Amino acid sequence: MRLALFQPDIPQNVGACIRQSACFDVELHVIEPVGFRFDDRAMKRAALDYGPLSHMTRHADWEAFQRDRAPGRLVLFTTRGATPLTGFEFQPDDILLFGRESAGAPDYVHAAADARVFIPIRPETRSLNLSVSAGIALWEGLRQLDGLPVRS
Ligand SMILES: C[S@@+](CC[C@H](N)C(=O)[O-])C[C@H]1O[C@@H](n2cnc3c(N)ncnc32)[C@H](O)[C@@H]1O
Repeated sequence: MRLALFQPDIPQNVGACIRQSACFDVELHVIEPVGFRFDDRAMKRAALDYGPLSHMTRHADWEAFQRDRAPGRLVLFTTRGATPLTGFEFQPDDILLFGRESAGAPDYVHAAADARVFIPIRPETRSLNLSVSAGIALWEGLRQLDGLPVRS
């Protein structure tokens, strides 16, 4: 199970995902360009001191990500998804992919996805925060596959 962010705009969201990567021991892939610098203080603040425990890989663009990524289904989380999270069955090598805060994922990313999943929310609302949706999806995937960390 891996997280991937498509061209994120907001450094705090990437920082929160770095923290999730560390807490749940999953890879985080960031597909550039992004809307901030990687030495951004706000990103580092949101990541706390979890950076060394996280596994973050930066990809120069979508083509580089597609070329370099390990095999596995691309599971796109989108408000335009066809399958509710409650009915989706994860596989261990799934890549959970999230769109950018301002515009979601473009059509070519939708076309490349092996599955498109939505997290049910009230119809009067538009979407969840990026890092919140990543946390919900990741936790459910790890729960299904018995991949959650065990507290000693
Ligand atoms: C702030 S949302 C993007 C909103 C954007 N205006 C749009 O219409 O797609 C950022 C990302 O979080 C994820 N996301 C947010 N809410 C979601 C939901 N209810 N179901 C699935 N993914 C969601 C998606 O990956 C989305 O691209």
